[in-house]
Amino acid sequence: MNDKQRVGHFAAEQVKPGMIVGLGTGSTANHFIEALAKRYHEESLPVQTVASSVVSAIKAKQVGLPLLAIEHIDGLDVYVDGADEVSPDMTLLKGRGADLVREKLLARASREFWVLIDYSKRVERIGQNYPIPLEVIPFAWQMVQRLISQVGGQSRLRPSGNGDGLAVTSHGSLVLDVDFPYIPDIHELNEQLNSISGIVEHGIFSKLATTVFTGGDGRVEVQTAED
Ligand code: A5P
Repeated sequence: MNDKQRVGHFAAEQVKPGMIVGLGTGSTANHFIEALAKRYHEESLPVQTVASSVVSAIKAKQVGLPLLAIEHIDGLDVYVDGADEVSPDMTLLKGRGADLVREKLLARASREFWVLIDYSKRVERIGQNYPIPLEVIPFAWQMVQRLISQVGGQSRLRPSGNGDGLAVTSHGSLVLDVDFPYIPDIHELNEQLNSISGIVEHGIFSKLATTVFTGGDGRVEVQTAED
């Protein structure tokens, strides 16, 4: 079992009967979905799920988990997802998979948000390894790009997977990936990005994670927001 599998299985063991569980997107979230489905089938664990993307909805259907439509719920018990970077204060960077609107909506609407990572995702500061992704309204991208440059960010539109066109999220947005040479305060940048019209959502998840599960060296380390 590799670290991503281990952390996915560990988190699935923490799910309680009756929970509505939000399913994240990515390879680590997929291991969680598989392990949760195993419990659902083998232990008859009563759970319902809601997907954060088309990809995670397909995965949930493949493994036979009961899926609720996002528009039919007003909250959930736990949202479980991976991340691209996690800093010591449990701030996250997400968005390699681009579906930031649904991911942050579920994270905000959930009583708990469990983040599943291996040690490669631990960073000293957000933006260390990846640009900050912004989901932008298509007609607004150039105006957003200019506003972002005024706060020191260099941005480019994300190309599609095959490089022939542009990446489009399941919400119909374009994605701007932004490099900031220096971010003095990630929480302040979070607020600045929240206030720019035309940005539908962005990849900084500030003060949302309640527990971070880190897989490595054959074990899982658990950090909670109270630590
Ligand atoms: C989805 O948009 C991303 O934030 C993923 O959660 C992130 O890329 C983690 O992916 P892996 O679990 O595949 O590393």
